[in-house]
Order: sequence, then structure tokens, then C-alpha cells
Amino acid sequence: MQNITEISEDLFYLGGNDRRIALFESAFPVPRGVSYNSYLLKDEKTVLFDTVDLAVSELFFENLAYALGGRTLDYVVIHHMEPDHSASFSRLIERYPEAKIVVNAKTAKMLENYFGFTGERIFLVKEGDALSVGKHTVSFLFAPMVHWPEVMMSYIPEKKLLFSADAFGTFGALGGSIFADGVDFDREFLDDARRYYFNIVGKYGVQVQNVLKKAAALEIGMICPLHGPIWRKDLKYLLAKYDTWSRYEPETQGTVVFYASVYGHTQNAAEIVARRLGEKGVPVKIYDVSVTHVSELLSEAFRYSHLVLCSTTYNNGIFVSMDDFLHDLTAHNFQKRKYALVENGSWSPQAGGHMQAAISAWSGMEEVAEKVTLLSSVNEATREKLLALADAIALDFEQN
Ligand code: FEO
Repeated sequence: MQNITEISEDLFYLGGNDRRIALFESAFPVPRGVSYNSYLLKDEKTVLFDTVDLAVSELFFENLAYALGGRTLDYVVIHHMEPDHSASFSRLIERYPEAKIVVNAKTAKMLENYFGFTGERIFLVKEGDALSVGKHTVSFLFAPMVHWPEVMMSYIPEKKLLFSADAFGTFGALGGSIFADGVDFDREFLDDARRYYFNIVGKYGVQVQNVLKKAAALEIGMICPLHGPIWRKDLKYLLAKYDTWSRYEPETQGTVVFYASVYGHTQNAAEIVARRLGEKGVPVKIYDVSVTHVSELLSEAFRYSHLVLCSTTYNNGIFVSMDDFLHDLTAHNFQKRKYALVENGSWSPQAGGHMQAAISAWSGMEEVAEKVTLLSSVNEATREKLLALADAIALDFEQN
């Protein structure tokens, strides 16, 4: 049965939730599920903004038919071709053969590649074009690499409304309210929104900054993303988060300790450091990188100002889970953080050098404490060095 919501006069939410999905994009655990958002504007012309993932397509098509109320679908705007939003496209164009497909040139090429779809139903738009559909105008602004190269957003000035594609979205299915102001966003969504941001578009901070500049030139009263709740209040809060994240600035002053330990000795070292930091009043979190999903590790690394990496040596290199984590940080353009290193090894400790080599490729990194090397386990001498490492980090907080 249809389950639509009129979110603004003549504008309807048609999306749905998948709470059974294990891995979003086959990569990211989403224990709280995910929503796929789609919207319909009913003016003199009817305009659908994006479709949905196959997981919720039955509900979507029922919602669309109900919302149209027997009217023709005139336009379909595709902001983003990734299949979590376009997988229902083939069924859509069969059901609504009159609809023009509003896309940019890159999206048109992807429509051909994914679906073999070409021809006169394609309605090409360029950056800055505007489409009048009656009382409303839909204007288009491009947002390349947020999150794919073809991504565009659209803006309805009469409603001060931005369809933002993946930007400003989040993991997590929607609850009773589909609006951010209808939930405790910090408690229910912020961690997922941060993890979504850094894993999906964290690599493209410059491109996100470009979009924020375009958005700053618009009067925006509502943001409708493709995942997660709709924003109609406190937009400055959301825009400020995106500004901080996309400039790669830490969101929280504090230290996060990441350790990779086989038999517990490196863990012991990590916990000595974390305990000391806690005693010194430094906000600190600690993660075993072998048991925490790398998408969460990545998000936490970007969140905090300081990190401590502790790894045992493995195959003359870095322990595998730490190695994976560092690769992921590199892939997401990690930068501008303060750090310290702890390495362990029973006969030839080498993890520290390899971790340093990875970090050296990141820009704006600053080592704030002398590396500590353990031989198998912590002894009195190395315990003192670990405490000194923590004290150096604490001093950095005092001085900055
Ligand atoms: Fe929600 Fe990049 O797709």
C-alpha cells in the first residue's frame, strides 16, 4: 500500500527503507538500514526526481502511481546514475512512455551504458539551465564527483528547495519522521552521516567545497537528499558539518588510538597510552582495528584531531588489519592530523617504519611524540616511553 508524504505544497516524498541490507554498496555495514529517497512535483507538468534501489521499488511504483493520481508523468530528473537510485529506471520508462528523461551529457552516456537507453526521450540540460514546469522552475547545478562525475543537483527557487543528490545524506533508515527536525539527529544519525560522508565522498573535499560555494549563492530553505532525512530547519548546522569535513578539519579535538594486536601486548601498550591521555583530561577513544569495520575506523580518524597508531610487525610489515586501514585512509585523501606511532615486534620490529612511509604520503601530517618500539611486550622502560608519548600529546593539547 502507498505510503507517501506531501513535504511541501504539491511536492511528495515517494521513497522507502531497506532495513535488511547487510552491506551498502557491498562495502559498508548499515545495521540501521538505509533509505532511498525519491520525490514527485505536481505542477502543470509532473516531475519525478530520481528513482530508487530495487529493494524498495515495489513500494516506489505504488507510491508514484498513487501520487500521480492518473496524471501523465512528464519529466524524470536523474541527479545521479548509481544503481541505488537508477536501478528501477528500465521499469519506469516502460510504465511511463511519455516521460522525458532530464539528464546531463555524462548521465546520458551512462544511461546508454547501463540500459542501452538512447533517443528522443532524452532531454539534455547544462549547468545553469532552467526548466519551467508551471508555477515552478527547476534549475540545474552540476556537482561532479559528489559522488560520481555525472552528479547534478537541482534547485526550485519558488520553494527555496535543493535536491542535493547524495550530498547531505546519511546511512540509516528513516523512522516515523522523514524530517531531520523530527528526530534527535545528533543521537540518531550524526555518526552514520559522518561515516557516510567520509566513506562515500571523503576523497573529494575540493569538489564538495565547490558545491558549498554554489549553494551559498542560493536561498535554501529545504534540502532533499537521496538518503536520510529531509532538512527544513537548522540548515546552517548541516552546512557547517560539510564545510568542516570537506576542508579536512577535525570535527572534535581529541585523540583516537588505533591498535592491531595479535596476542594482546600491543593492545596493552595502546591502553596504557589511552589511560594516560584520559588521566590528563584529553578526550580519547580506542579501537581494535581487527574487529571494528574499516568504514567506522575511517570516520573516526577523520573526526578527531590526533591519532595514535599501534601495530605489531607482520611479514616484515604492518599487521594486515592496520595495513588495510592505512590503505583506506590513503584512498580517502586523509590529511592534516597530528599523530604518534607505537610498533611492536618479537625479533625485528618494522611496523613503525612502514606506517611512517604511508603517513609521509599524506599532506599536513605532524608527528607530536617520539615513536615507541616494543620488543614482544611492554616492560618498565617501554612503559615509561608510552607514558611520555601520551604526555607529549597532552602537552600539544595544552599548547594549542
Ligand atoms: Fe546513493 Fe552514490 O549513490
